[in-house]
Amino acid sequence: MAAGDRVSRADAEQLARLHRAAMPYSVLGALGTATLRRYYRWVARSADERVFVSRDGDRVIGVAVLSFRPANVIRRFVMARPLSFATAALARFVQDSAFRRQVRAFLAESSSNDAGEAPELLQIFVAAEARGRHNGTALLRRVEEWLSMHGHTRYYVRTLADNNASTLAFYDRRGFAAAGERLFCGSRFAVLVKKVG
Ligand SMILES: CC(C)(COP(=O)(O)OP(=O)(O)OC[C@H]1O[C@@H](n2cnc3c(N)ncnc32)[C@H](O)[C@@H]1OP(=O)(O)O)[C@@H](O)C(=O)NCCC(=O)NCCS
Repeated sequence: MAAGDRVSRADAEQLARLHRAAMPYSVLGALGTATLRRYYRWVARSADERVFVSRDGDRVIGVAVLSFRPANVIRRFVMARPLSFATAALARFVQDSAFRRQVRAFLAESSSNDAGEAPELLQIFVAAEARGRHNGTALLRRVEEWLSMHGHTRYYVRTLADNNASTLAFYDRRGFAAAGERLFCGSRFAVLVKKVG
């Protein structure tokens, strides 16, 4: 598989910060900036994920992360550095009752994945000050061009089903259709699908 955009240490630092600000509900984000830095370096090197970085000069202003094996991406990330992950998760588990609830919910949920092994957009976000200027649309366009060039006909995205009208509208206006619902760490997520090519 073709390599994705390069993610330097400095890029990963910026992505970690942007991730926490753009998605405060993110369970991965709750594990802290060090875990997020490792995550963005890991997906950039992974053979089963592809990273699209949006830049304004030297500054990272957004990212899209696509997975071709979404069903076990968390497990693969954890297994890459189990000790670092366990340390971060344990610290959070002890400090944060909301995180404890999310972990308990995750363990009780079914591990089935609606999207199976079809490509899934795991993350997409743009820095708050750069939103509304077509950066998100440009990231989706790059994702879709890449998917069609590589023979894929559809991809999925999951987004919070509740109190998330602007993001749901963003996907709706860009041709995504409802493909079900899924519980993740106790929150309801809408599963959306879009045809490409
Ligand atoms: C969703 C997101 C990536 C869109 O990026 P963007 O650069 O603002 O996208 P664009 O400028 O191409 O398009 C903006 C459109 O999204 C809508 N939008 C959705 N959320 C928005 C937000 N928080 N700020 C500005 N516009 C937003 C705008 O109304 C606009 O609508 P349009 O369809 O009529 O054009 C960005 O708003 C974001 O990072 N949101 C927070 C993180 C998030 O929710 N990610 C998705 C998780 S699945």
